[in-house]
Amino acid sequence: MLQEYYIHFDKITELKNEWVPFFKRYEMVLKELKSDFDILDLEWQAIYGYSPIENIKARLKQPISLLKKIERKGVPFEQEAINENIRDIAGIRIVTSFLDDVYMMLEHIKKREDLRIVEVKDYIQNPKPSGYRSLHVIVESKLILSDSVIWVPAEIQIRTLSMDFWASLEHKLQYKYKGMDEIPEEDREILKQVAVTSFTNDVKMNQLRKKLLHSS
Ligand code: GTP
Ligand code: MG
Repeated sequence: MLQEYYIHFDKITELKNEWVPFFKRYEMVLKELKSDFDILDLEWQAIYGYSPIENIKARLKQPISLLKKIERKGVPFEQEAINENIRDIAGIRIVTSFLDDVYMMLEHIKKREDLRIVEVKDYIQNPKPSGYRSLHVIVESKLILSDSVIWVPAEIQIRTLSMDFWASLEHKLQYKYKGMDEIPEEDREILKQVAVTSFTNDVKMNQLRKKLLHSS
C-alpha cells in the first residue's frame, strides 16, 4: 500500500489539492442520498412500526483507489472522463433486514424523480465467483445548486444483514492478500460455502417474515 502511494504520489497530490472542487459534487451527493434514505427510514418506521433499513453508510472513494481504478479501466486522467466512466466515487450502502426489503428498496429508487437509474447489477441472483451477494444500483442523483441543477453519479449498494456480515468479514480476510497472491483455494472454498449458508438463512428468514408478519 505504501509503495503504491509513492508510485502515485504526484497524482494523489494533485487530486488532494487542485481537484477539491471536483470532489465537492460527490460530497454533496452523498449528503443528499444519506439524508433522503434517512427520511425514508423515518417514514417507514412511522407507517409500519419498524424499518426494513438496518443501517446506511456513505463513503467517498479514496484517491489511491480512484487512481488504481482509472489505470485499470484505462480512463484518461481528466475530470470529465472520470465523471463519465467511474460511477462509484460516491457510494452509499443500505443494509436491510430481509431479502424482500432489498427489492422493495429498488422499487422505491425506480419511482423517485430525483434519481435516474443507469444500471442495476444483481449479484444476488448472479453472485460473484467469490460468493459475494449484493444489489448494486448505479444512479444519477439530482442536485439543486445555487444557480443550476446537476445530475451526479453514485453507486447504491443494497444488501441484507446476512450479506453484509459475509462481505465485511471477507473483506477483512482479503486485506492481507491485497496486491499479493490470492487466498488459498481451500480457504476460498470455505468462504464460498459460508456465503451459500448465509444466503440460505436469508431465504429462510424471508419465508418466516412472510408467514409471521403478513407483509406483501
Ligand atoms: P470495482 O473497481 O471494485 O468498483 O469494480 P466494478 O466497478 O466492476 O464494480 P462491482 O460491481 O464489481 O462492485 C465493486 C464493489 O462491490 C466493491 O467496491 C466492493 O464493495 C463490492 N464487492 C464486489 N465483489 C466483492 C467481493 O468478492 N467481496 C467483497 N467483500 N466485496 C465485493
Ligand atoms: Mg434528493
